[in-house]
Amino acid sequence: MKILNKTMSITSSAVVTTAALLLSISPVQASSMGEGLYMQHCAACHQPDGNGVPGIFPPLADNAQVNSDDPENIQKYLRRIIFGYHGGLIVNNQMYSGRMPPIGYVGRLNDSELLKLVNYQRSSWGSKARAITFDELARARKAGSLK
Ligand code: HEC
Repeated sequence: MKILNKTMSITSSAVVTTAALLLSISPVQASSMGEGLYMQHCAACHQPDGNGVPGIFPPLADNAQVNSDDPENIQKYLRRIIFGYHGGLIVNNQMYSGRMPPIGYVGRLNDSELLKLVNYQRSSWGSKARAITFDELARARKAGSLK
């Protein structure tokens, strides 16, 4: 009987945690899960409209490298998001030398969340890049950091 009670209280606290997580996402009022995840994990730096902040956070909108359909560019893009990046970049003639945090590592975002997020980003703000696949994501996770 004691054991049963313990199990029940763990279950109800898991429900409360799940509800709290859902509540923390809902104020964003995202129209899709990919958009909600972008707003939650990326927009503070790269901005809700993907334009970034010149000289500080590079734009993801109108960025040929980020919205490329080339498989090797896609690998670089994914590896920067999964493992973080601070090698320095030039985007649209502007230099960036900040630090991108390792947002996409397992435990923070799972594969299906990360795919929804990146495919939202690549199909927003005028970009029509092709969708990234599970296989491409698995390859990037295996390849590790770009440094
Ligand atoms: C804390 C701020 C911050 C957050 C949050 C952040 N980034 Fe970044 N990101 C940066 C900075 C700074 C750079 C440039 C790093 C450099 O100059 O070396 C960057 C670079 C990038 C690049 C490389 C751009 C290029 O032209 O190759 C991509 C792609 C990117 N971020 C995507 C994302 C995505 C997607 C998310 C959300 C999952 C995200 N970032 C969240 C700060 C951030």
